[in-house]
Amino acid sequence: MTGFNPLKKMINKIPVPQTKLTEVLRIEGMSKIFKQKAHEVNALKNVHCTIYQGEMVAIMGTSGSGKSTLLNMISAIDEPTSGTIFLFGEEANAIYKEPKASNFRKENIGFIFQAFHLLKDLNVEDNIALPLILNDVPSKEVKELVDEMMRELGIYNWRKHRPNELSGGQKQRVAIARAMIAKPPILLADEPTGALDVNTTDDILKLLVEIQQRGQTILLVTHDPYVATYANRVLFFHDGAIVDSYQNEQSKQDLDAILAKFKLISRGER
Ligand SMILES: Nc1ncnc2c1ncn2[C@@H]1O[C@H](COP(=O)(O)OP(=O)(O)O)[C@@H](O)[C@H]1O
Ligand SMILES: [Mg+2]
Repeated sequence: MTGFNPLKKMINKIPVPQTKLTEVLRIEGMSKIFKQKAHEVNALKNVHCTIYQGEMVAIMGTSGSGKSTLLNMISAIDEPTSGTIFLFGEEANAIYKEPKASNFRKENIGFIFQAFHLLKDLNVEDNIALPLILNDVPSKEVKELVDEMMRELGIYNWRKHRPNELSGGQKQRVAIARAMIAKPPILLADEPTGALDVNTTDDILKLLVEIQQRGQTILLVTHDPYVATYANRVLFFHDGAIVDSYQNEQSKQDLDAILAKFKLISRGER
């Protein structure tokens, strides 16, 4: 029997409630000027954007366009020159002062990087446990949470290994586990597949999509149009500003559409 599923037909007739999008992050008029001896760099120029709960948004732009600077503002690693950040609908510029900045990061942000940034002297389970230990979680609970996370991400068998004994894909899984273990509402990924081969890139992106589908909000920085096809939405960055956007349709056209926009933007034609 193929094709007909009466239950499915019934479910399709139930009206889907229009759920209101919950705002996780809003940036208004954000600029960042780096003052150097001889000159100034306008790394962000009047950036506006809103990110909703459960979205994966790709931030795409050429090298030097301001992508990492934006992540540094969102994670309060650095302070904007002007502009406002809203978190969960509330003005939150207080996060740019210590000790608020560190606490904000600890409670709200998970970070993954191209170069993994694992601690080389700690084994897999201790790397993953680190954010919980910093949050004073009791050790019995730490073990339970870390074991569960390692099982979910398929790295349990490597729990006693050091990072240099792992492949790139395994290292990134450990980094994702560490970023997610304290359940931060926002996951920031700066070129997370930049050091991986094509197949491993797919595995890691699929894993991020799974995590996102459970309600996690993810910002994914990339200069690779293929990587950007995994997001719901693409924001194109050029010279410190958001100059265009694209809503992925999860179809074959996405890659061509993103590539076309990105080419125009890189040539300065947008
Ligand atoms: N700490 C800093 N001091 C001075 N200039 C910086 C600093 N960080 C970034 N920049 C400059 O800001 C611009 C944007 O950099 P960045 O955000 O790292 O770009 P991307 O991540 O898109 O490659 C670049 O011109 C870069 O040289
Ligand atoms: Mg960067």
